Amino acid sequence: MDITPLTGGLGAEIDGADIRDNGQFPDIHQAFAKYSVIVLRGQTATPEDHLNFARSFGAINVNRFFKPVDGHPEIATVLKEKDQKEAVGEGWHTDHSYDEAPAMGSILHAIEMPPYGGDTLFVSMAAAYEALSAPMRQFLDGLTAVHSSRHVFGAAIQDSEAAKSGRLGNADAATQDAHHPIVITHPLSGRRGLFVNPVFTTHIEGLSKDESDAILAMLYEHCKQPEFQCRVRWRAGDITMWDNRATWHKAINDYHGFRRLMHRVTVEGVALSTPAENKDS
Ligand code: SIN
Repeated sequence: MDITPLTGGLGAEIDGADIRDNGQFPDIHQAFAKYSVIVLRGQTATPEDHLNFARSFGAINVNRFFKPVDGHPEIATVLKEKDQKEAVGEGWHTDHSYDEAPAMGSILHAIEMPPYGGDTLFVSMAAAYEALSAPMRQFLDGLTAVHSSRHVFGAAIQDSEAAKSGRLGNADAATQDAHHPIVITHPLSGRRGLFVNPVFTTHIEGLSKDESDAILAMLYEHCKQPEFQCRVRWRAGDITMWDNRATWHKAINDYHGFRRLMHRVTVEGVALSTPAENKDS
């Protein structure tokens, strides 16, 4: 298989791989650990193949809010119909950061793509962290932020197009609030990175609301810099896997009038730890 980095920050494209071939798994896993985002081009994969590939990384973490694929409750449908305006995942976010043990990875399979657009952007949270000044890194070290599903999937969004069209549901299950360190040690690479995101993080604990809003706004502007990003241009059949502990992502909603259908499987993660808890890192 050929592995080509997408940018200097993160991401790699892999040609000649087959997710159904278990013998290739060690090389795919190594690329995932190194690049945080891997794009496996041209997969001929059924929903069962998709799930089996995910299980080689760990147990499946079933999303509570996305409409499941018919006959496959462990696979979430990520869909925008041609007459719909809102795309799911348009804001910068980290999947499942509202869980105490956020999903380690998400595996998205492009089933039907528009003729143009519909790319996905990613950010390296380690590169963003490393570019902060030493005093800012020191300030953030040891702080904790709260993440929640309530304002994104709960009663508050029941009038949204995504909820009304049935793409999102199960609002009663949006009860998760989780506390995570703002600076984490990545469980796989040992690299330090930021772990806050604009969609699910509500506030930094111990700061006033104004302080918390200002610090988060500053961090979000910082993280959005193109130097920390890569962009995945999809073709139908491609599978992209990303590490939720190392990245943000955002679905680009620029293909109005066309349908885009993806299948997503998320893999269980572990509770996150701080650099102080990992003194060797
Ligand atoms: C997601 O946010 O998980 C979906 C991203 C995409 O549709 O590109």
